[in-house]
Amino acid sequence: MDPAYARMRAEQPLLRIKMAYGQEGWLALRHDDVRTVLSDPRFSRAATLEADLPRAEPDLPNTPEMAANITNLDQPEHGRLRGLIASAFTARRIERLRPFVDETAQRLVTEMLVAGSPADLVKAVCEPLPVAVICELMGVPPAGRSIFRAGIEAVVSNATVAAEARVAAVQAIITYMAELIDERRRDPGGPRDDLLGALVAARDADGSRLSEAELNMLGVTLLVAGHETTLNMIGNMVVTLLTDRSRWDYLLADPDRIPAAVEEMLRVIPSGPYSGLARVALEDVELTGGTVRAGEAVLVSAEAANRDPEVYDDPETLRLDREPANILSFGYGSHRCVGAVLARMQMQIALRALITRVPKLDLAGEVEWRTSTLIRGPEAVLVTW
Ligand code: HEM
Repeated sequence: MDPAYARMRAEQPLLRIKMAYGQEGWLALRHDDVRTVLSDPRFSRAATLEADLPRAEPDLPNTPEMAANITNLDQPEHGRLRGLIASAFTARRIERLRPFVDETAQRLVTEMLVAGSPADLVKAVCEPLPVAVICELMGVPPAGRSIFRAGIEAVVSNATVAAEARVAAVQAIITYMAELIDERRRDPGGPRDDLLGALVAARDADGSRLSEAELNMLGVTLLVAGHETTLNMIGNMVVTLLTDRSRWDYLLADPDRIPAAVEEMLRVIPSGPYSGLARVALEDVELTGGTVRAGEAVLVSAEAANRDPEVYDDPETLRLDREPANILSFGYGSHRCVGAVLARMQMQIALRALITRVPKLDLAGEVEWRTSTLIRGPEAVLVTW
């Protein structure tokens, strides 16, 4: 993370910002302020649809689907959709996925070993694992994976991809999701004990609880949010461990240290230039260092908040045994990440498979970083063993 963030958090914790596109706004940097912005109902997600937000890419035109997206709803609509996800996305359903995640990670590592050294770890493990997992959870058939994977690359892209291409990509995923939903309706008794089937059943049992657009967007959002962040984070973590071999060796000595190490890496590794989605103040709100006026936009930096010295000792140092509490990498408040448990499971299992099966894994040359997406992660990680 740029050291300027630490200086700003101390000197100007509510930072006036102007980005490549949109009006000026604010960036909250302190842990307590970030929590306030993410959880106080005076900060609205729905109001962002009408606002000219500070952002890194050209805006997409508003569509009815966007207004129905769980990430863009305020209470009480948001609570209604969250409740439905909670009833379909149960801890049991996620735990049932554990053997699949484990077997997939093992298979991918085996395939990488068989193909031989060197390999690109992103293509071999980081990307295929979360894609396979979210498709298994949602019930996306293997043939559909490339359709939605290509679309998602464009959805999370930044200004280097034309706005029309991004709109077309979103539309392609929405159309594909409608086909998957139709399939479940045509074959309601089929062997479809997947999350999408559960959501379709919830919609059809009581249409007043979930509109068709909400159902479709919920599927799309889960598919998109469900793997892009995870695949980048697995790559970021492997690079973090291999750039200082003592970290890798520390986990190799006792792989049961991996869950704590994952938490600490989530705390320290930035996932993008800013995390979480912007909010718009519905009334004037005091934060440390200033007042956000009604109608103004605020972004949060979970990265800066995760290194707030008022919350963490020696915050700039990565200490793999730290077991940090209250990290904001999965957000906070009512919109906090639905998939945090699943994401943690995948990161832990991927690292365990690599560390225990390929203990001599090493970086071969410079890591190539992505420049075309809003999420930070390696484009390619060439490794040898
Ligand atoms: C390392 C992996 C992940 C990270 C870092 C991450 C991060 C986040 C963050 C920061 C938010 C809150 C955004 C905000 O309030 O502005 C969020 C929301 C969300 N995440 Fe994740 N996520 C990850 C994995 C996943 C997975 C695996 C799934 C689904 C299977 C998922 C589904 C969602 C959904 C649906 C929301 C929107 C929740 C709402 O608006 O109520 N995420 N995620």
